[in-house]
Amino acid sequence: MNIIQNNARFITLEGVDGAGKSTHLNWLAERLRSQGKQVLLTREPGGTPLGEALREMLLHQAMHLETEALLMFAARREHLDKVILPALAQGTWVVSDRFTDASFAYQGGGRGLDEARLQILEQWVQKDLQPDLTLLFDVPLEISRQRLAQNTSLDRFELEKQDFFQRVKQAYLKRAAQFPQRIRVIDSGRTIEEIQVELENIISSL
Ligand code: TMP
Repeated sequence: MNIIQNNARFITLEGVDGAGKSTHLNWLAERLRSQGKQVLLTREPGGTPLGEALREMLLHQAMHLETEALLMFAARREHLDKVILPALAQGTWVVSDRFTDASFAYQGGGRGLDEARLQILEQWVQKDLQPDLTLLFDVPLEISRQRLAQNTSLDRFELEKQDFFQRVKQAYLKRAAQFPQRIRVIDSGRTIEEIQVELENIISSL
């Protein structure tokens, strides 16, 4: 539940690499803006100068899996402090390309880090703050892999094998089952127009 006492909402987009979330990010932000809302579009890891520097390392340097998890949450702490919380406090809607569900999916599911450790970091870094809405873009892995194959410069995560992505996908779906009020699973194997109709319905209920 959002702890901020105004109408601003915190929306996150999630999904395995190649699931198609990026296609919908800008559309969603524009749609909200056209309804007269102030909208800030941001991303994780990243969103602040320090977070973007950490992103560079996270995406390109080999590291211990606990280092990876700690850096993801370090970037998030900064992101919350410098960007997300101030924006929400001013009544600006925040749309973030990934947030903590990605840590549970990638570091937890993909790399096998103990979920209890992630929960401790989550509590430490964000206390009770959770997104108001999370859109989880889901496609069969064959499709997301095909999309990634068209990309010529893949990062450390995108270069992972099929079974890694299978675990990430399962972990995301497990989160969606755990938090059905917050996480909406979007079948992104459909046309862009069909998905936009569904997104429109979802945001109108916020
Ligand atoms: P992007 O490709 O969506 O920009 O995300 C960068 C990568 O970072 C993506 O492969 C997922 C990964 N990631 C994690 O492993 N854990 C996290 O907590 C976040 C936010 C991203």
